[in-house]
Amino acid sequence: MREPGTQTATSPGKAILFGEHAVVYGFPAVSLAVDLPTMVSVRRRPGTDWTLDGSPEGFQRIPYLVEAARSVGAEGIDVSIRSSLPRASGLGSSAAVTCGLLALLSKTGPGDLGTLAKLAYSAEFAAQGVGSPADTSTLCAGGIVSIGGGGYGKSLWEIAPRENRGPWKVDRLPDPGWKWVVAYTGLPKQTGDVVSAVGRKVGAGASSTVEQIGALAERGIAALFKGDRAEVGKLMNENHGLLVELGVSNPRIEEIVEALRPQTLGVKITGAGRGGSLLALPRSGEEAAVARAFAKAGTVPFVVSISPVGVRVAPPSVTSAGAASPGRSAS
Ligand code: PMV
Repeated sequence: MREPGTQTATSPGKAILFGEHAVVYGFPAVSLAVDLPTMVSVRRRPGTDWTLDGSPEGFQRIPYLVEAARSVGAEGIDVSIRSSLPRASGLGSSAAVTCGLLALLSKTGPGDLGTLAKLAYSAEFAAQGVGSPADTSTLCAGGIVSIGGGGYGKSLWEIAPRENRGPWKVDRLPDPGWKWVVAYTGLPKQTGDVVSAVGRKVGAGASSTVEQIGALAERGIAALFKGDRAEVGKLMNENHGLLVELGVSNPRIEEIVEALRPQTLGVKITGAGRGGSLLALPRSGEEAAVARAFAKAGTVPFVVSISPVGVRVAPPSVTSAGAASPGRSAS
C-alpha cells in the first residue's frame, strides 16, 4: 500500500535507433521511448535528509538523484525506485530516475515537458560530466523523436548548447507501430568513459565517421516517415558498422550481432556501447523468435512497443475507504 503523501512518477525506457555518439557533437539522432517503465516515488519529509529507502548513504551513491534534488533545492525527501530496466544497460535507467524525480519536485513538473527536459539534461550532465540530451528529452517526450539537426517533424523544444556542443532541436517523428526487441548483453557500460574515449578518437581524426553517422540518421528519419521497415533495418546495420569503426563494440557484441543478423531486418548497439544493450528490428510477427535467438545468444531480451507518452505523475488514486491506492508495479 502506498503511504499517504507519497507521489509517484512513471518514466518509459529508451533505445537509440540511429545516431548515438554523433548526437553528442550536435548531429541528429533518432530515439525511441519504449514501454519499460521506471517508477520513482517521493515522500516529502521537511527538515530531514535526502534518503533512498530511508538511507542517506544510498541516496548519495546515485549522483543523478543528488544533482536532480540539488537543482531544485529539494527539502527532505525519501525516494524509492522500482524499475523494469537493468542498471547501466543503455536503456535509460539513469535518465528515467532523473526525469521521474524532477517531474515530482520541479515547479512546472510534467505540465511543461520542455522545461522538464532542460532541467533533467542539466542534472544528468552535472552527474555525468559529458553527453547529449538524447536520453532525457526522449523520456520527457515519449514516442519517437529526433534530437539535433531539427526541422524533421513537429518541433517540441530546443536544448541550449553546453560546453561548445549543441544546440539540440527535439522534433516529434511518426511511430510506424512496429515491435522492437532490445537485449541486455549483461555487460554494464559506463557512458561517461565511452563518450570520453570516442571524444579522443574524434579529436584524433574520426570526425568523418561521426559525420557519416549523422547523415545516416537523416536517411533513417526519411525511412521512418515512409514507414519503410526494410530500409530502417538496413540503415541500423550500417549504423552498427560505423559504431564498430568508432571503437565502441567488442568481440562479445560482435558474436551476438553475427548470430542475430540473419534473423532480423537490422541489429545494432543501442547507447554508448562496449556493453549495454542491442536493438533489433524483427520482420513483422517475428519478434518472439528474435527474442528467443537473443536469449540463445546469452542476452536478456525484451520485446517492446513505443510508449506514446513520456514521464508522467500518477494522480493520487483514492479507494472507497479514502486511502491512496498502490500504483502498477514494474514487474
Ligand atoms: O548508453 P546510454 O543510454 O547512456 O546512451 C548514450 C548515448 C550517447 O550518444 C553515447 C551519449 C549521449 O549522451 O548522447
